[in-house]
Amino acid sequence: MKTLFIGLFFGSLFLGAFTPLPAQGDDLMAWGKHIAEAGNGDPGNTACMECHRLRGGGMPSIGAPRIAGQTRQYIAREIREVQKGKRYGPVMAGVVENLSEHDIEAVSMYYSHIHTPKVRDVSPPSPERVAIGKKIALRGLWKKNIPACVQCHGVNGSGVPPLFPYIAGQNRTYLMRQLIAYAFLERKDDPQGLMRGIARRLSAGERKAVAEYFSSLNPPRENGR
Ligand code: HEC
Ligand code: HEC
Repeated sequence: MKTLFIGLFFGSLFLGAFTPLPAQGDDLMAWGKHIAEAGNGDPGNTACMECHRLRGGGMPSIGAPRIAGQTRQYIAREIREVQKGKRYGPVMAGVVENLSEHDIEAVSMYYSHIHTPKVRDVSPPSPERVAIGKKIALRGLWKKNIPACVQCHGVNGSGVPPLFPYIAGQNRTYLMRQLIAYAFLERKDDPQGLMRGIARRLSAGERKAVAEYFSSLNPPRENGR
């Protein structure tokens, strides 16, 4: 009997030692999902899903962006820039303040891996503005030294990994706000000020038109890039 117990005891130790640990990626995903659902446990930290939803589709009514399927690198970069104060983010600043590097890696991994259908905008786009926006998006405005948006944001605005975000299927309010933030220099995290220059040269009507165009498209299908 004694030997049987000793056998079981050592047997379980042995098993315990050799139970394969989940891969690091799985751990990160699980922690990332936890942060999205409930925050990281620090006082004051808010669950991302309150504004971006658990599946990352965003909330057009408050202009919270969709983040599902943006690259890990881009999501992590934006969070760090908000922490550093280089990216204007009055709402986000308090939320991400106390995320650790590990938290950022985890939550970026989580949201980059989900594929979520488009969340409808609050009202349908205006066909006239979409048509004007489409022209600017595909051809640029050479007289104003504005290149076609798709040159950097990829075919139909579907993004060029890792650092050119997709803008297709993003909500209109968010797109508008970002163009205004770049134009009026509240958002200063774009490499070489490229977006700031472009946004400043667009008129208010043109900013509205490109925002309506890209928000009228579907977001890219690829996920986990
Ligand atoms: C209270 C609402 C709210 C919460 C909670 C919130 N966000 Fe945000 N988030 C926003 C808003 C609004 C913006 C856009 C503008 C800004 O910076 O204020 C944004 C922007 C972002 C962006 C930039 C997206 C882009 O396309 O550039 C990322 C990435 C992001 N949030 C990730 C997160 C993560 C991860 C969490 C959870 C740890 C989180 N957010 C929690 C409201 C929120
Ligand atoms: C020369 C390259 C380039 C061109 C051309 C360009 N963009 Fe960008 N854009 C970028 C980069 C890079 C970023 C991400 C910068 C950052 O991380 O802040 C960006 C970010 C954005 C964002 C914010 C996305 C988000 O998720 O927060 C919007 C909106 C945007 N661009 C719209 C446009 C529109 C509309 C046009 C055409 C009128 C355009 N861009 C042309 C390089 C470009």
